[in-house]
Amino acid sequence: MRDTTTVTVVVGGFFGDEGKGKVVGYLGLHDRPSLAVRTGSINAGHTVVYGDKTWKLRVIPSAFLNRSCRLYIAPGALIGIDLFFKEVSETGCDGRIFMDFNTGVITEEHVLRERRDEVMNKIGSTKQGVGAATADRVMRILKLARDYEVLSNYVRDVPLDVNEAINRGEDVLIEGTQGLYLSLYHGTYPYVTSRDTSASGVLSEVGLGPKKVDEVLVVFKSYVTRVGEGPLPKELSIELAERLGLIERASVTGRIRRAAPFNMELARRAVMINSATQVAITKIDALFKDASNIREWSKLPLAARKWVEEIEEFIKVPVTLIGTGEDVTAMVDRRKDVYGSLRR
Ligand code: IMP
Ligand code: MG
Repeated sequence: MRDTTTVTVVVGGFFGDEGKGKVVGYLGLHDRPSLAVRTGSINAGHTVVYGDKTWKLRVIPSAFLNRSCRLYIAPGALIGIDLFFKEVSETGCDGRIFMDFNTGVITEEHVLRERRDEVMNKIGSTKQGVGAATADRVMRILKLARDYEVLSNYVRDVPLDVNEAINRGEDVLIEGTQGLYLSLYHGTYPYVTSRDTSASGVLSEVGLGPKKVDEVLVVFKSYVTRVGEGPLPKELSIELAERLGLIERASVTGRIRRAAPFNMELARRAVMINSATQVAITKIDALFKDASNIREWSKLPLAARKWVEEIEEFIKVPVTLIGTGEDVTAMVDRRKDVYGSLRR
């Protein structure tokens, strides 16, 4: 890796909802990248909790907490115009948020089309219009950010800005959305979303070549959840999941998330397909209660440390970040121990 610049791409390794918002929020505050890019679309909600505030973001990069970070939306991403302005106001990031000329725009018509679509019902789509808008884009009839007067102050050449920032030696953080097993190519088709959610797919959405990337950070949760239909290996009954404290509700649709124990095989495959250099595991406090809000590796319960080491042994990649609570700062950051320096 280069000495001066670090380009990191963060992606989900299961079915989305691994806690990427928390991880990216942490990295934004801690590593202070000068530029952060969000990919994907409004079907994906990233939750960022900081102090007494909670944001559920579907458009704006989760690194917004760092006020000196320039925020970008990828050309391959899709936004909703009302949602964009709502989140700009909630995060107070006006003046440092930009999108690409070619970022796609979802309209009410796309949402209506998905609501009456049989396949979308069958797979348990979030019905936010993302698949319909993507289909229109493939057919070359989707309107893009450059077509909307209200967005004229926000549009830029995002690939150029990102690549120039990297060439100047600035740190860049790329935020993937959803998880590998929702990928149109690598997921549990047809129970998948309308894009490739892998690190390569995410980079393609940004307009950044793979050789520019130093760190591929794959995020897992300490258990697996899935919303909507489709296979979930070793799925727990709702009663058992509830008893174990693993029941969550989806941040976009409010649906109950199906739950299963951490899956080593899925994790190993996600590491392979993403060429992960590091792994984050969130919500370890859900499995080991004494891990709650711990911020040092040595203070984690022994059983938790052993469990993490077992995973590392199996996936052959270091677990560098461990989430111990909902606040973005509730994190064990092992990067110094693992690399001997704050490689990031
Ligand atoms: P769609 O992309 O909204 O059409 O949804 C397709 C499938 O992906 C459904 O099973 C959704 O529940 C799932 N999905 C889409 N986005 C997310 C996400 O951000 N987190 C979790 N599941 C998602
Ligand atoms: Mg989510």
